[in-house]
Amino acid sequence: GIQLPLRPAFKRLRHTPAEMRLLFEKLGWRRILGFHISGILHRAQFEMSLKAMSDVKANLLLHPAAYALRPGDIDYYTRMRCYQAASAYYHPNMMILSILPLFMRGSGLRKILWNALIRKNYGCTHFLMEHKDLDKNKFKQEDLGIQIVNFDESVYVPDEKIFMPAKKATQGFQRPLPENKFLHRLRTGRPIPAWHSFPEVIKEIQHAHPPRNQQGFTIFCTGLSGAGKSTIARLVYAHFMEIRSRPVTLLDGDIVRHNLSNELGFSKEHRDINVNRIGFVAAQITKNRGIAICAPIAPYAATRFQIRQLIETYGGFIEVYMATPLEECEKRDRKGLYAKARAGMLKGFTGIDDPYEPPENPEIRINTTDITPDEAAQEVFLFLDQAGYLR
Ligand code: ADX
Repeated sequence: GIQLPLRPAFKRLRHTPAEMRLLFEKLGWRRILGFHISGILHRAQFEMSLKAMSDVKANLLLHPAAYALRPGDIDYYTRMRCYQAASAYYHPNMMILSILPLFMRGSGLRKILWNALIRKNYGCTHFLMEHKDLDKNKFKQEDLGIQIVNFDESVYVPDEKIFMPAKKATQGFQRPLPENKFLHRLRTGRPIPAWHSFPEVIKEIQHAHPPRNQQGFTIFCTGLSGAGKSTIARLVYAHFMEIRSRPVTLLDGDIVRHNLSNELGFSKEHRDINVNRIGFVAAQITKNRGIAICAPIAPYAATRFQIRQLIETYGGFIEVYMATPLEECEKRDRKGLYAKARAGMLKGFTGIDDPYEPPENPEIRINTTDITPDEAAQEVFLFLDQAGYLR
């Protein structure tokens, strides 16, 4: 090794194997249980680790693997903050929290043994990991040089207010929620029982996954030129500026064309670049809990879908299809562009000689032919309120 990789965050929680072993020596620890964990540390796992510590009479190295998980999982920074919060529940002189720079691997016995060997290199004498694939007949503990400790799944018995190994519990016990159900509960504002998780851990996760009325979102108006996108966007923008609940940004088609995309034309390629830029900016705004209101034509379904996927990792995406028919848009012809396009003076104009792919499942569909702008904006507010974004 020439140089250690640069670790931008949680530096104090990073140790090389040599540093870790030195630290154990300094502390006089001779029996150390390395605890591999990748999900959130809830009370059941905490209790189980305490039991394992006392079974083998060892101190604990809480050693979470710092890999990026699947989309939708709790992000790395939040997970690490959760371990920090949970680690305060251990006796301070009996545990160390350290982050293991390790990428997710498949499952099975090989993974368990490999993880055990890694912990041996860090100076552990015992190893604890949640697993279903451990068959102790398939390898020799002596060869391994580190003792794999049985992981007894803990369940909660509400009548007695205690945790006990699942195999000893007979009835009336509760299992911890799987991570996706746990997250769903938090996001929909339902309570997590006190036995399940430490309040400090819940607070960390709530911070990263607030309920919808604190999340950012993007309102993405799409439709033909003259369909009413800008008008509705301006009204919605003014409303949110007035109530000041969140910072709000208007990314109208013409504003973006002027400021972000003034070198672009109207070929498919250029339209996609333009719309993707809008999507990128809206995603950043949404991530920082703001409201982005976009109003480009955005004629291509695939491009809109890409943007939706990007933004939904950070907050809400509300597609508003301005379904005002071409005849009506052309009749309005505020900018005189339809007349020019019909006269052949403007080539590749959306709806005339360039495609528009209507959204199939927009959150909101508005035809402004027979309604006022205020009525159209009202539809957006009603949707947002119903979906929980407003209160
Ligand atoms: S998009 O296709 O890239 O989403 P955008 O909303 O930014 O389009 O720009 C559309 C606006 O550009 C229209 O409202 C119109 O004023 C102007 N425009 C100029 N040429 C065209 C064209 N060929 N097709 C559509 N709009 C055009």
